[in-house]
This record gives sequence, structure tokens and C-alpha cells, in this order.
Amino acid sequence: MNGKQLIEIAEQAMMRAYAPYSGFFVGAALLGKSGKVYTGCNVENAAHTPTCCAERTAFFKAVSEGEREFEAIAVCGGDHGDIKGIFPPCGVCRQVMAEFCPPEFPVYMGTGKGEFEAVQLKDLLPYAFTADAHMNG
Ligand code: THU
Repeated sequence: MNGKQLIEIAEQAMMRAYAPYSGFFVGAALLGKSGKVYTGCNVENAAHTPTCCAERTAFFKAVSEGEREFEAIAVCGGDHGDIKGIFPPCGVCRQVMAEFCPPEFPVYMGTGKGEFEAVQLKDLLPYAFTADAHMNG
């Protein structure tokens, strides 16, 4: 499974977004160490606060199915699925990634049509607050 394949799965997941309020569709594809891919889309809510981002949907699906170690995640988003540029994950999703993934964890940000830019989690979330912070004290 390479980055392009993972992005293409994220693009498909994006079209399953439930986003009647923002109209912004987001998709994620999370590759577990087992080789299994967990997809996610954003799921909005009339009360707004209960909305769950695509990346967290994917992580919570994976963890709830017993997978806790991951190879990479691909994310993409656009107005009603029309990807216009890179889609960087929100801060809350970066924090969830930091719970389960090392600083070198690759994040592929889709730019459309299977293309992407690759960064590492440590570049998206430097000085991450992790379990180490309160377990060493
Ligand atoms: N969204 C995500 O799914 N992932 C992110 O990293 C940031 C934002 C969703 C939430 C909401 O449904 C829509 O994009 C607009 O903010």
C-alpha cells in the first residue's frame, strides 16, 4: 500500500461525508500495522459540537477494532468533495494522532486526483503533549 493508493481510498471515503451544515467533505484512510485500512469521513450534527472529523472517525474505528499501531494516514477535503489544495488535519485530530503514533508518523495531505504532499506528525504537532508528559512526573 503506497501513499497514492491510500490517498485514493481517502478520496472515496470523502464522498461519504455527512456534512449538510458546512458542505465541506473530508475523507481519511488510516493504514494499520496489520495492513488493514480504516476509512473515515466527517460526520456533522445539527448541534455542531458533536461533529466528528474524518481523521478521528478513522482512528476510533481502528482502535475499537483492536488496532493501535499505524503506518500512515491519508487525508483530503474540499467543498462538496471538490479538492482545491492540501488538507491539513485540525489540531484535535493531530492530538489524537499523537496518542497512538510516533513523531515520524507520515501524514499524506491530498491535493486532488491521487496527488499528495507528505509530512511527518512532528511537523504538524511539535512539542506534542503525550502520555510521557504525565507518566514521568
Ligand atoms: N473536518 C475534518 O473532518 N477534519 C479536520 O481535520 C478538520 C475539519 C471537518 C469538520 C467539519 O465537518 C468540516 O470539516 C468543516 O470544518
